[in-house]
Amino acid sequence: MSFTQNSSAAGPASVGETPEPGPHNAVRIIAITLLLALFSYIYLGRANKKKLEEAIAKQHHCEPVLPYLPYKWPLALDLLKRQFEILLSDHAFEGLTPYFAVAATCCIHLFGATGYFTTDPDNIEAIISTNFEDYGLGSRRSAFLPLIGEGIFSQDGQAWKRSRELVRRQFVRVQKQTLQVLTPLVGELLSSIQGAASPEGLVDLKPFMFEYTLNTTTNLLFGEPHSSMSKEERDAVRDNFDYASFGCVGIRARLADLGWLYSPSKFRKSCKAVRDWATFFAAKAFKYKDEFGEEAAMEKYAFIIDLWKEMQDFDLVRDQLLHILLAGRDSTASLLCWTFFHLVRNRDVLERLKQEIASVPTDGDITREQVQKLPFLRCCLNETLRLYPTPPLNIRFANKPTVLPRGGGADGMSPVLLPEGAGIAWSTYHLHRLESIYGTDSRIYRPQRWESGELLKKARPGAGYLDFHGGPRLCLGKDFALTEASYAIIRILQKFPNMRLAPGVPNEPVGAEKTGLYCWSISYRWYTCIVDVVRPSKRRKGVQGIKLLQMTKSPRKPLL
Ligand code: HEM
Repeated sequence: MSFTQNSSAAGPASVGETPEPGPHNAVRIIAITLLLALFSYIYLGRANKKKLEEAIAKQHHCEPVLPYLPYKWPLALDLLKRQFEILLSDHAFEGLTPYFAVAATCCIHLFGATGYFTTDPDNIEAIISTNFEDYGLGSRRSAFLPLIGEGIFSQDGQAWKRSRELVRRQFVRVQKQTLQVLTPLVGELLSSIQGAASPEGLVDLKPFMFEYTLNTTTNLLFGEPHSSMSKEERDAVRDNFDYASFGCVGIRARLADLGWLYSPSKFRKSCKAVRDWATFFAAKAFKYKDEFGEEAAMEKYAFIIDLWKEMQDFDLVRDQLLHILLAGRDSTASLLCWTFFHLVRNRDVLERLKQEIASVPTDGDITREQVQKLPFLRCCLNETLRLYPTPPLNIRFANKPTVLPRGGGADGMSPVLLPEGAGIAWSTYHLHRLESIYGTDSRIYRPQRWESGELLKKARPGAGYLDFHGGPRLCLGKDFALTEASYAIIRILQKFPNMRLAPGVPNEPVGAEKTGLYCWSISYRWYTCIVDVVRPSKRRKGVQGIKLLQMTKSPRKPLL
C-alpha cells in the first residue's frame, strides 16, 4: 500500500492514468498560454494594420512604387557601403546622382525593409507640410543625443511644439533688434581676412566664415561672441565641434536605428568638450542673474534667461542652445563660402553685385532697410542656397500609414501608401537641380534667374525650392542667417573690391567641384576635412594648404 502510494506520487504515471499537474507543468502551461496570447496579439495587430493600410490604399487609389535600386549583397549591404564611399569621396552628393536619376520616387530594400526616396516636389510638400503630422524624425533624436541632448532640432510632437514656441519667441525679439550688434563681428572678420592674406594677397576665406558664424551665433545665444575666448580654446572647441557633429550627422544619422553602434571614445570626448563649453557660457549668464537680478540679466543674456524662465532647468536650457548652434553655424558659413566661390568665378555677377552694394555707405552700421534694398544680393543668396542647400539630404519616417501623392504604378503618377515606420528620404541637392523646374541651365550659377519672381512662383518654396525648409518646421533662423550673411558680403566686397579667382585655382563647373559633408551642410573640398575628422592633425594642414581666392587690397597694385 505504502509502495503504491509512494510510487504513484514520485514515479511516472502508469499507462491509462492521468498525470498530476506538478509545479513544472503549471509553469509550462502558463508560459505556453502567454506565448500564444503574445503571438495572437502580434498577429492580430499586424492583420489589423494591414487591413487599415489596404483600406487607405484603396480609398486613395494607391499603387506600389515599382522602380527600385538593384543590389547584390544580402540585406542590400552593398548599397549602404556605397553610400559611405560616396560620402567620403570628393563628390559627396554628385556621386548620388545616378541613384536619384532612377526615378522621381524610388524604393530601396535595405536590411530587409523597404524605404523610399524622392525628388518629387509634391511628395516633399506632403511630407514637410500638408501631411506633416504623419511623419517624425525617427532616429535623428538618438543620433544627435550625445552632442546636443534634448531640444527643438530632434524633437517631435508636443515636446517639439513647446520648444518651437519658446525658440520662436526669441527670434521674434531678435528680428526687432538693430544690426548694430553685427558691426564689431564683421569688423573682426575683415581684419582676420586681411591679416591672413599672403603677400600675394592669397587667402582661404573658409575658416574665417566658420569663425564668423560661430561668433554671431554664440553672440546671439550666449550673449557674447566665441572670440572672447583664447585662440587655443577656440580652436579646441572648433575641432571638437567638427568631430562630434560629423559623428552625429555624417555617421550616426546615416546608420539610422543602428546609429548607437558608433560611439568611439574620441567621439564621446568631443561631445563632452562641446557640452562643457556651452555649460561654461550658460553658467556665466546664471551667475550674472544671481548677482545682478533677472532684469539686468535679460538685457545681457536675453536668450538664456528667457528660456530658463520657461524651462527652469539648467541642462535643458544648455541643450536647447546647442541645438540652435548646430542648426545655425555651418549652414550660414556654407552659404557665405559658396557665394564667394561663385562670385569670383562669375565676373559679371560680381560686378553687378558691387554696383548694387555701392548704395550702402562704407562706414557705420548697416540697417535692415539698406539690406532690403539690395534685391540682386538676395538673388545671389537664393542661387547659392539652390545649388548648395543645407541639408543636402533629409529624411522622415511615417508614424502612421500615410499617402504620398505620387510615385506609384507603371507611370509613377499614382498615389503611394507608406506603411507605418517606413522611411522616406529626399535630396534637396538634386531637387534644386531639376531641369523641369530650373531649366536646362540648372547647373549654372545664374542669380539673374530669380530676378523676375516668376521662378519662385514656379518652384514653390516648401515644395520645389527648400532654401530654409518649409511647413511647420520652417527654419527659425532664416531672417538672422540672411541678415548676417548679407552684412558680411557687403562689407567684404567694399573692403576688397578687386577680389578675384586666385591664379592656378581650378574653375570647375557646377557638379564637378570637390564637395563633402561638413556637419549638415555641403562644403568645398571638405574631403580633406573628412580625413581630419578621423585624424585631426591632417586637416589643419589641408585647410591651410587650400588657396581659394586672390585678393588685392588697396593701396596694393590692383590685379584686375
Ligand atoms: C543659410 C543658413 C540656414 C539654412 C540653409 C537653414 C536651413 C534649415 C532647415 C532646412 C531646417 C529644417 C531642418 C529639418 O527640420 O529637417 C532648419 C531648421 C532650423 N533652423 Fe535653420 N538654417 C539656416 C540658418 C539658421 C540659423 C542662423 C539659425 C539660428 C541661429 C537656425 C535655426 C534653426 C532652427 C532652430 C531650426 C529648427 C526648426 C524646427 O525644427 O522647428 N537656422 N534650418
